[in-house]
Amino acid sequence: MKTHLIKTGFIKDNIINDGNTFLLANGHIGYRGTLEEYTKEQLVSLNIVGVYDQYKDKWRESLNLPNPFFVKCFVDDKEISILNEEPLNHSLDLDLTKAVLRRETEFKDIIISSTRFVSHKTDSLLGERYSVKAKKDLHLSLTFGVDLDVYEINGPHYVQKQVIRKNNRLVFNGFTNEDDVIFLTYIHSLEGSTEYKESLFKKDIYLKKGEEISFEMFALVEEEDDSKLNIEEVSSCGFDALLKEHENAFFNKYMDSHVEIKGDEDADFEMRFSIYQLLCVGDENRCRGIPARGCSGQTYKGAIFWDSEMFLIPFFTLTNPIVARNSLVYRINTLKGAMAKAKEFNYEGAFYAWESQDTGLEACSKYNVTDPKTGEPIRTYFNEKQIHISADIVYAFDRYVKLTNDYSILQEGGLEVMYQCALFFVTFAKKVGDLWHILDVIGPDEYHERINDNAFTNYMAKHAIELAVKYLKNKKVNPNKSHIEDVTRFENFINSLYIPRPVSGVIEQFDGYFKLEDVTLENLKKRIKDPKEYWGGENGVASKTKIIKQADTCALVALLEDEFDEDVKKNNFEYYYPRTEHGSSLSSGMYSRLAFRLNNLDEAYKMFRKSASIDIVGSNKLYAGGIYIGGTHIASSGGAYLSLLYGCLGFKYEDGKIKLDPHLPKTFESLEFNITLNNKKYVLCAYRDGSYKVKER
Ligand code: IFM
Repeated sequence: MKTHLIKTGFIKDNIINDGNTFLLANGHIGYRGTLEEYTKEQLVSLNIVGVYDQYKDKWRESLNLPNPFFVKCFVDDKEISILNEEPLNHSLDLDLTKAVLRRETEFKDIIISSTRFVSHKTDSLLGERYSVKAKKDLHLSLTFGVDLDVYEINGPHYVQKQVIRKNNRLVFNGFTNEDDVIFLTYIHSLEGSTEYKESLFKKDIYLKKGEEISFEMFALVEEEDDSKLNIEEVSSCGFDALLKEHENAFFNKYMDSHVEIKGDEDADFEMRFSIYQLLCVGDENRCRGIPARGCSGQTYKGAIFWDSEMFLIPFFTLTNPIVARNSLVYRINTLKGAMAKAKEFNYEGAFYAWESQDTGLEACSKYNVTDPKTGEPIRTYFNEKQIHISADIVYAFDRYVKLTNDYSILQEGGLEVMYQCALFFVTFAKKVGDLWHILDVIGPDEYHERINDNAFTNYMAKHAIELAVKYLKNKKVNPNKSHIEDVTRFENFINSLYIPRPVSGVIEQFDGYFKLEDVTLENLKKRIKDPKEYWGGENGVASKTKIIKQADTCALVALLEDEFDEDVKKNNFEYYYPRTEHGSSLSSGMYSRLAFRLNNLDEAYKMFRKSASIDIVGSNKLYAGGIYIGGTHIASSGGAYLSLLYGCLGFKYEDGKIKLDPHLPKTFESLEFNITLNNKKYVLCAYRDGSYKVKER
């Protein structure tokens, strides 16, 4: 079983992608997999989740902190860096079961090695051991400490950066444009005299051939309200003890989410890597939501999208329900923002932000992409029209409650969320003739804007209202009396909501979709003038055609699987799959899940591999129009996991019973999942011959 991601050799063009692949994070902070000699040019970033700042009228985004593990090496006064000297050997080794990154780089005169972790035990702590070994007698000079030149997309976010030094310790106080103060405390273990200038220490040393110098660095990231840890005390436990503590904490999470595919080493490894990336974003201690790019930086403003409800919370619900609960509580805590947004557009209830930050107010700009040639902003309607987000949230609450039996979350605000979301849809819809229609929206396929009766939205809205009604009728959750009075109104609404039915077996994605130009993906690509060009919006190359960005109707039939028969699922898959660009990383996992259920194992397998390997291969789009959208694609990792669990294994939990209906691809001898369900731990295992086992663990 392969448990380490090892990359050897150095390719300059891969620096940005390696930063994602080798990311270390714990849901609270994320440190990109960059090398010690890198600066903001190589996108070094220590990102903190859920703390946002806005500089002037630029996009408000999550904060990056100064880099605490910056080290520059000079040998006989010449700088030795992978950026200016080709290494003889270079490797990065990420232990996926312990979340530890090791680097080893051999240059002509020295060998640099390091071991780094972002603690899963103390979630404000990160640590690194850095060593240099001499290959000849030499004079080594090390410059190290905190690099204050922070990589930021829409900064500068610090109005003032203040550093206080005491011996080997630095305290950085960063004052933001929004009057927040963020603290980064740093300590190093290098003994003896060091020089010091502007947050960097300098040490000169003579090494004989074969001699090594090694030292450790720790950093703590803290906010104003945190009760501060004393870094001297923390670091006095020693690097090895802190590393071990972290490894044990991570390993427990790894075991609770363990998946093993026997017979297919590559698929097994990619799944393990995806789970690693997912474990990097789960916060057990705070309710801040999980941003679309996890802890990998400021892309998408560090905001929370529907990715959380459809691709991430379902993973955590079955592997670490505390994280799932925290992410749902985030939606409870941001309900006010969602209600304010609904009001702004003259609706009632909760219209959740398409891009949600700490307050729940909308962070998505009206011009969310730019023309790569002219730099001109392009008008997009994601924030005003992608209303399915409110239904997706209700869907996630229901799934969480069903799988954990934790009804307390409904009493603590979850039911209120459901009610307000239902109310929003009821007030959003328009009556045309006898029926309610949901007009002027955007579905998951963002290339077609301002469309009417998007099947995904209409079905999901109906489902959300049905769920709200179901829980409002449930005495267990103690519903608000005035809300119960709306039950009949909701029921009447659902009964006359227009629901697009299959036409010759296929559900039309939205009203008028079937009349669009039916160009092949291959021919559409020939019309593209710039590789970074945005395909959607008013003038996008895909907008007037049937080519879609990502699973839309197929996402619907995969998610609400019991509402559609096998033929409808098959017809929709066959119709939409060839017409999908997979321009979003959310697409392949969803298609894979559906294809597994349809026993279309070749396509299912292909899409699963694509979804699971996205941040190893780094083949994803880096730009939407002119806007940088790189980072880790955790929804794709979640999509891969859900595709294997719900698609390949055919997992269902009904009437308190686990049911499996495995469809294993030909390369899998067996597929095994560790899950937690209703407070009990299980192992689910399916075999090539169609048999399967469910055991308590
Ligand atoms: O939520 C997604 C959306 O569906 C497609 N564009 C990127 C967003 C964030 O991942």
